[in-house]
Amino acid sequence: LSIVVLISGGGSNLRALLEAAADANFPARIVAVGSDNDAPGLEHAEAFGVPSFTVVPTAFADRASWGDELLAQVEAWSPDLVVCAGFMRILPPRFVAALSPNLINTHPALLPAFPGAHAVRDALAAGVAETGVTVHIVDEGVDTGPVLVQRVVPILAGDTEFDLHERIKIVERDVIVSAVESIAERRIVLPEPARNRQHQEN
Ligand code: GRF
Repeated sequence: LSIVVLISGGGSNLRALLEAAADANFPARIVAVGSDNDAPGLEHAEAFGVPSFTVVPTAFADRASWGDELLAQVEAWSPDLVVCAGFMRILPPRFVAALSPNLINTHPALLPAFPGAHAVRDALAAGVAETGVTVHIVDEGVDTGPVLVQRVVPILAGDTEFDLHERIKIVERDVIVSAVESIAERRIVLPEPARNRQHQEN
């Protein structure tokens, strides 16, 4: 299974995927890494000899044209699966329509609880005893696609947002690697893309 990983930040989830894929027995390989900025995490791709590309939103007139360029750069690698791992942009409809459901995301909360860009802070502020990690299919909404895997992470007294997010990331790395492995080995079977289904129905 060939994978393109999209990141925006430090790329600890990407690093975990790169380390896993470095094992010849891992059933997936990362063919490229994409980012919306000159993300520190791109260093991990370089360290593993994986090509990367950057498509910066401010270089485009609008979100749709940015998304079209990002899609073109992703599709150039003909991936079987695109993994958003700390990618902090909302993907435009044409991008999602072209790739979903072979487009998944890892989110640091137990969706549908705490969607959006501040999930860890929101869980902490809500005073819940536990939160967690969700790997889900990306659909047109924000953090709304079908859930594939979830794992609980406890919130401890005195946790700062940083403490909690680091504890979440430890679990998240393991969840995203096992989710990719499950998809590659078809223990998780993603639905047929809607675009193909339409063709079959006609
Ligand atoms: C991850 O927790 C991801 O779920 C969230 O931001 C964090 C990114 O971490 N969107 P990293 O870039 O993978 O280290």
